[in-house]
Amino acid sequence: MKVDVLLGLQWGDEGKGKVVDVLTPKYDVVARFQGGPNAGHTLEFEGQKYVLRSIPSGIFQGNKVNIIGNGVVLDPALFKAEAEALEASGHPLKERLHISKKAHLILPTHRILDAAYEAAKGDAKVGTTGKGIGPTYTDKVSRNGVRVGDILHNFEQKYAAAKARHEQILKSLNYEYDLTELEKAWLEGIEYLKQFHFVDSEHEINNLLKDGKSVLCEGAQGTMLDIDFGSYPFVTSSNTVCAGACTGLGVAPNRIGEVYGIFKAYCTRVGAGPFPSELFDETGDKIGALGHEFGAVTGRKRRCGWIDLVALKYSVMVNGVTRLIMMKSDVLDTFDTIKACVAYKVNGEEIDYFPYDITEGVEPVYAELPGWKTDMTKMQSEDEFPEEFNAYLTFLEEQLGVQIKIVSVGPDRAQTIERYTEE
Ligand code: GDP
Ligand code: IMO
Ligand code: MG
Repeated sequence: MKVDVLLGLQWGDEGKGKVVDVLTPKYDVVARFQGGPNAGHTLEFEGQKYVLRSIPSGIFQGNKVNIIGNGVVLDPALFKAEAEALEASGHPLKERLHISKKAHLILPTHRILDAAYEAAKGDAKVGTTGKGIGPTYTDKVSRNGVRVGDILHNFEQKYAAAKARHEQILKSLNYEYDLTELEKAWLEGIEYLKQFHFVDSEHEINNLLKDGKSVLCEGAQGTMLDIDFGSYPFVTSSNTVCAGACTGLGVAPNRIGEVYGIFKAYCTRVGAGPFPSELFDETGDKIGALGHEFGAVTGRKRRCGWIDLVALKYSVMVNGVTRLIMMKSDVLDTFDTIKACVAYKVNGEEIDYFPYDITEGVEPVYAELPGWKTDMTKMQSEDEFPEEFNAYLTFLEEQLGVQIKIVSVGPDRAQTIERYTEE
């Protein structure tokens, strides 16, 4: 069997949680492969709304196996809060959720270091989610991390050593902090974690594949936030691209099947960093208001702009996207004209490829298309799509060279339309 991967093609918050939930009935296993509680994946069904941070979005659809892979960084305190809320709302997870022993733990001091490094950067700060993501991955790569599996072996010693090292760094930065509450909640989280299945997820996934089970990998963040290919240094600290599913789960590259690339009909970004098609006018405000563009985790206002096809083409390329999914189409329902950035003007020269640096001097070049001026939210099938909407889809498919297989017309699970285009 193959492993399908679903990932964000923009700056995150494309709607990954919703679509993973929708696709889960077709799979036996759903697995997260990178990121951590910096993610906020929203799902809505039967009048309820849930936001998942570390737990895979397959958790609501029957008895599927949900795996937190080795590439994920896990905060026990936040995990406990998330898991307890799910249990309380009638969604048991103990039997269904497996956690890789090789996943790294976010320590309380990682969160403080995240804040300290951001403060030290001043105006150049990344605008992180403050969840300790960067410092935890830094410790992983510098071979100083503490892993989930360590909870079972010499844990106190390993934690104390890491904490002492972090405290030295914080001292050298003259950063004032109070660890008491954070550490208390974190240690409670460690105790709570012990009741879950800790697994060697690479063995588990490969055995499941051998048994003919199908696996969906759920990406977090988006390609433009990838540590290698995103708008560095305004990125997260993991590989959000498709290759991250291989390293974050122990799946071989030749096992990758479909790659679902998900994008909004427009574009958003939260936190600092370049965003060539950002709108600073009423149109941007209107998109933000209609799309309720506020962070699922931090509540921060998301910056809004038109779709950026230069960046999207690049994302399609580095991920090997085989199927596109367009989200939040309904947000553009009332616009007379829709714009799409088809090229960048850099130093007066027009380019249609994603350059090394988009930090400064990049101007968007737009194509304009007529809006569909139709309420899409109640539509059930593509037969109901207005002509202008179909024209927008065709335009995007021509530009990106990949078919759009799913269109989302509202936040609810039911507001999802599969297109029956020929392969
Ligand atoms: P994720 O991080 O990629 O899972 O996305 P988020 O959950 O952070 O943000 C997506 C937001 O858009 C959530 O509030 C969803 O409920 C909402 N959403 C998803 N699909 C649609 C859609 O098609 N239309 C509208 N209006 N909202 C949507
Ligand atoms: P989901 O999975 C949107 C952004 C932060 C910041 C940068 C680095 O919900 O799409 P970090 O805390 O990771 O060190 O922050 O990345 N960021 C996200 N933006 N959606 C996310 O996740 C994000 N996770 C991180 O805003 O700019
Ligand atoms: Mg999100």
